[in-house]
Amino acid sequence: MPRVNSPAELEELRKDILSRRDPQKPCVAVCGGTGCHALGNRKVISALQKEIAGRSLTAGVDVKETGCAGFCGQGPVVVVHPEQICYVGVTPEDAADIVSQTVVGKKVIDRLVYADPVTGERTVHESDIPFYKKQMRLLTGDNGKIDPKNIEDYLAIGGYSALVKALSMSPEQVVSEIRSSGLRGLGGAGASAAMKWDACRKAEGETKYIICNSHEGDPGSFADRRVMESNPHNLLEGMIIGAYAMGANEGYIFVGDEFPLTVENTRAAIKQAEEYGLLGKNVLGSGLNLNMQVTIDGGVYVCGESTAIMAAIEGRVGEPWSKYDHATEHGLYAKPTGLNNTQTWALVPSIINMGGEQFGKVGTQRSKGTRVFSLVGEVNNTGLVEVPMGMTLRDVIFGIGGGMREGKKFKAVLVGGPMGAFLPESLLDVTVDFDEFKKAGGSMGPSLIVMDENTCMLDMAEYFLTFLSDGSCGKCTPCREGLRQMLKTTNRIKAGKGARGDLDTLEEISAVQKVASLCGLGQCASSTLLSALKHFRNEFEAHIDGKRCPAGVCKILTTAGS
Ligand code: SF4
Ligand code: FES
Repeated sequence: MPRVNSPAELEELRKDILSRRDPQKPCVAVCGGTGCHALGNRKVISALQKEIAGRSLTAGVDVKETGCAGFCGQGPVVVVHPEQICYVGVTPEDAADIVSQTVVGKKVIDRLVYADPVTGERTVHESDIPFYKKQMRLLTGDNGKIDPKNIEDYLAIGGYSALVKALSMSPEQVVSEIRSSGLRGLGGAGASAAMKWDACRKAEGETKYIICNSHEGDPGSFADRRVMESNPHNLLEGMIIGAYAMGANEGYIFVGDEFPLTVENTRAAIKQAEEYGLLGKNVLGSGLNLNMQVTIDGGVYVCGESTAIMAAIEGRVGEPWSKYDHATEHGLYAKPTGLNNTQTWALVPSIINMGGEQFGKVGTQRSKGTRVFSLVGEVNNTGLVEVPMGMTLRDVIFGIGGGMREGKKFKAVLVGGPMGAFLPESLLDVTVDFDEFKKAGGSMGPSLIVMDENTCMLDMAEYFLTFLSDGSCGKCTPCREGLRQMLKTTNRIKAGKGARGDLDTLEEISAVQKVASLCGLGQCASSTLLSALKHFRNEFEAHIDGKRCPAGVCKILTTAGS
């Protein structure tokens, strides 16, 4: 493919791609996200290709491996186009029926369509399934239309048009669009994206960097990596626009080594973008020179902290350091650096295309746009969900998630991951909003973990304390030793050997940790435990006073009483 040297040439290329495509041509789209991959999507693809070839239909029917369709708990997901008939839980044995009955015969196979677990009602088209109906899919809506490894698929749906638009504006105007969108950093802290961009743009120095934090090491969380592996060019486009606005010439995408498909797809996208002239020297003839690379961390949780990321990229030990300066002035290699999270970067093309003001109409007063969560745990519909800011947790869990599995009772939802908070039933009307989550004790992490009545909150708190204790770099005593002591104490309570004073001890350690730890991990390490103590104190007391585990989870107590 020859390099594209200008916006006009890019539009010519787009026209050429579209002229070679027939939207009415049958296409069997098989989800290629990590979830469906693990469930055997490649075998489904092979079976479909074999069946199509066996019927001499190869020239007339496409089989495409796409990004994550979102309905991960129902995988492998297959959508037959142009009718958009959605099949779930597809196996290689279903390939013959899909080709003969649906692709050729235009008939729906009842046994493969989604059936509501409560009502049993079957839904044929993806857009009619309640799981999708209540979402607003700015970031994820195109996943099922594109092969993440094919730049032409992204160009065919209008990809890189936001970059063309941004390059026609001044860097100041681009920052101004981001400002009017109200975009806040989706890494959890919720800092204004425009403030960061503006500070980095104004910082002195020829050399500037941009970084995408795609570390995402929280248990139960896969939203960022799924966004990235499904539509990597969208992320690149957002980052290229950011580099143009901030004046950066080097970009890094920092990702965990436990996400091989994400790394593979992103590297493939970077290579293609370079070949097409969308990265490298003189991007689209604009004068912007930008190199991008994927940097893989060793999977250590604390590596996701901003100073640890920069240390790791520089080749130092990936652990947090004191923040004397803002990264926008003194970041990677002591140069101005614009660091944002995956979803923050990935929303940039939508903002530029829609216009900041229009984008800012989505969401609440102080939280704009959409948020992609991995919705997991004891809900009927698990997967990748994208909701407008302002939706209640109740709507996410019961509307999109379809309520609790097996009709069990809702007990809690963890918002903000290991450093977030367990919210009880009484807080289900909290809305998806940075400030509302914070007020409730949580944060805007990328996962929502739903628990039912059979969950022991002490057991859950212990799980996350263990996770953080393992993830702590050990540099500061309140974090390292505090976590160990909290773990010892919770273990003791779980074993029926706790005393009332233990609860005070836990709160005291938390208070010290909060003010005396260097980084966010230590400062928020006790957050889940404190929320469990606040909302489910009776369970702690039952373990201590009654020597029993109300949920019947803590084995020693359960068997001791039997
Ligand atoms: S707070 Fe914990 S993770 Fe952070 S630097 Fe200190 S010891 Fe390391
Ligand atoms: S990985 Fe297939 S639906 Fe998410």
